[in-house]
Amino acid sequence: ADALKIGVAGLGTVGASLVRIIQQRSDQLAATCGRPILITGVSARDKTKDRGIDVRGIEWFETPEELATKGDIDVFVELVGGAEGPARIAVQAALNRGLHVVTANKALLAYHGVALARIAEEKGALLNFEAAVAGGIPVIKALRESLTGNTISRVYGIMNGTCNYILTKMEKEGLSFADCLKEAQRLGYAEADPAFDIEGNDTAHKLSILTTLAFGNQIAVDDIYLEGITNISIEDIHAAAELGYRIKLLGVAQRTDTGIEQRVHPTMVPVDSVIAQVDGVTNAVAIESDVLGELLMVGPGAGGNATASSVLGDIADIAKSRPGAQQVPVLGHPARSLEPYRKAQ
Ligand code: HSE
Repeated sequence: ADALKIGVAGLGTVGASLVRIIQQRSDQLAATCGRPILITGVSARDKTKDRGIDVRGIEWFETPEELATKGDIDVFVELVGGAEGPARIAVQAALNRGLHVVTANKALLAYHGVALARIAEEKGALLNFEAAVAGGIPVIKALRESLTGNTISRVYGIMNGTCNYILTKMEKEGLSFADCLKEAQRLGYAEADPAFDIEGNDTAHKLSILTTLAFGNQIAVDDIYLEGITNISIEDIHAAAELGYRIKLLGVAQRTDTGIEQRVHPTMVPVDSVIAQVDGVTNAVAIESDVLGELLMVGPGAGGNATASSVLGDIADIAKSRPGAQQVPVLGHPARSLEPYRKAQ
């Protein structure tokens, strides 16, 4: 069968991991997907930087937009980041061209997910974003596909690896907030601007996406009550421990009688709860629904390989999809039928 041609915009931590894995596992991927997966184009700022990947034979583009509009590709993979600017322009261009898109960009989806889903659905293109929420945990697939038919009442969890890494290290190793953050950056967990991590915005972006998948509403990221971890001290963590609690940055979305409640803030969780045991860069997402009951998924939430694993799964889904077949709605519900957002009173 014909190869599925991939264009990768952005060769940072995740992009470089993705290219490496696709190149190293080409035989395995071709066998599993029934067709080869081939990287034919990339865009990244610095062409000369050594990323430990083989870029011979791959066409190099100056900007994501150029790759999206001119690349000889079937799938545009966006690993640039940012709600506005190059990422948004390129994803729009790719969808308008009828290309499938895979993105890890939660900020973009939080602000423009509904508009992008509309374009994708009109064009019959797939827009996959498993890596955008909780890194390697397949929570999008769970909400978008597996739980169809359930009525979901609550989604909550630890959705930022950087914050959980910092809170864990402060408690277990007594390191300062600043040193923990530096280490998270060095390991490739943090956002380009780590304020998004520690002030809770990144968790809010992810939560707003899950809320829409769970409840079928318009995305409402600016409605989220937001409090990050910048004011948490080692003393706070130890005081909580003495009372039998650990402090976790949680995102919580739930249905109430008056509407939807969404919040992100440091939360005291009982030490013997499962969520309290989730350490380091690991994330956890809990989904409460009527037919299934409570589902809890725990796994790597950030970092090159964890994120690349989800991106690769999204690419493989496209490789396995049948042309012209009915697509899964991007946000779990057709974009034009999403309900207006109703905030809980
Ligand atoms: N900065 C994010 C985190 C990356 O730490 O969770 C994964 O989205």
